[in-house]
Amino acid sequence: MTVFKKMSALLLAGVTIMAAAGCGGGGEAAGGGSGDGKITMGFAQVGAESGWRTANTKSIQESAKTAGIELKFSDAQQKQENQIKAIRSYIQQKVDVIAFSPVVESGWDNVLKEAQAAKIPVILTDRAVDSADTSLYKTFLGSDFVEEGRKAGKWLVEEYKDSTDTVNIVELQGTTGSAPANDRKAGFAEVIGAESKFKVVASQTGDFTRAKGKEVMEAFLKSNPDIDVLYAHNDDMGLGAIEAIEGAGKVPGKDIKIITVDAVKDGMQALADGKINFIVECSPILGPQLMDLAKKVVAGEQVPARVLTEETTFTPEQAKAALPTRPY
Ligand code: AHR
Repeated sequence: MTVFKKMSALLLAGVTIMAAAGCGGGGEAAGGGSGDGKITMGFAQVGAESGWRTANTKSIQESAKTAGIELKFSDAQQKQENQIKAIRSYIQQKVDVIAFSPVVESGWDNVLKEAQAAKIPVILTDRAVDSADTSLYKTFLGSDFVEEGRKAGKWLVEEYKDSTDTVNIVELQGTTGSAPANDRKAGFAEVIGAESKFKVVASQTGDFTRAKGKEVMEAFLKSNPDIDVLYAHNDDMGLGAIEAIEGAGKVPGKDIKIITVDAVKDGMQALADGKINFIVECSPILGPQLMDLAKKVVAGEQVPARVLTEETTFTPEQAKAALPTRPY
């Protein structure tokens, strides 16, 4: 048990006031931890589906080491039931704090209530849950995925501002039911929906993977001869789709314009090479902020209910300039 937890009983009154104020606070007298005064975090990762996820995992593992936090890490292979199992096992092990990136938005209330009953604070990273009871977690650290979708839509509107022709768009969605798939779709639709020339002729999940992106794009190309634009919810699906487009004898970036989200190195290289036309950044470097938040919630300090990640967008020229120092 950490020193902070031993002090938490004394701080209980203060914590109650913070909770009543709607602020994320920690510091409840939780289970046991590592027993050496070190904070133990259980982290339930989504999987290893993309370059983004690999960079995110590395960021979390390295930051835990730097922060002196003992990390118990699990990979759910994109399955909610595996994540729930991992969280239950962290509850049993009496970790000091649980963090996870929920594979989908729904279906978390029961396990989050179990963590709350065990007085183990939970931090959401990267993806949100749709639980009505926001007291089930202390804070949510991650991107504004709706805004990412809007940025993709705004680029498209600008790109076709002088044309009155119909623009046929295909969309490769992320994992069905996940926050980034739901929100990136909604933000994009909101912006392009203002002009009737933009038509989404096909929209299907590619599960955020390169292999699925290729497979679904092949099917799109077969059933839609006149695709003008591909909007892929991440770089990996876009990169898989590029293989499909080239396999169909078309030129990615020219015959079919491509917008993706993430800005990992492989995506940025394809952008610099002219195969992708525009990338909306989504930063996977959440580790340092996560460890800071974890220390605060375990100490019973107040934390903001929402911590947003700062992000930008990239054109091919900007990608060429950024690539030499891109860390992931
Ligand atoms: O939740 C973030 C998304 O998950 C990334 O954009 C995608 O690449 C990853 O798989």
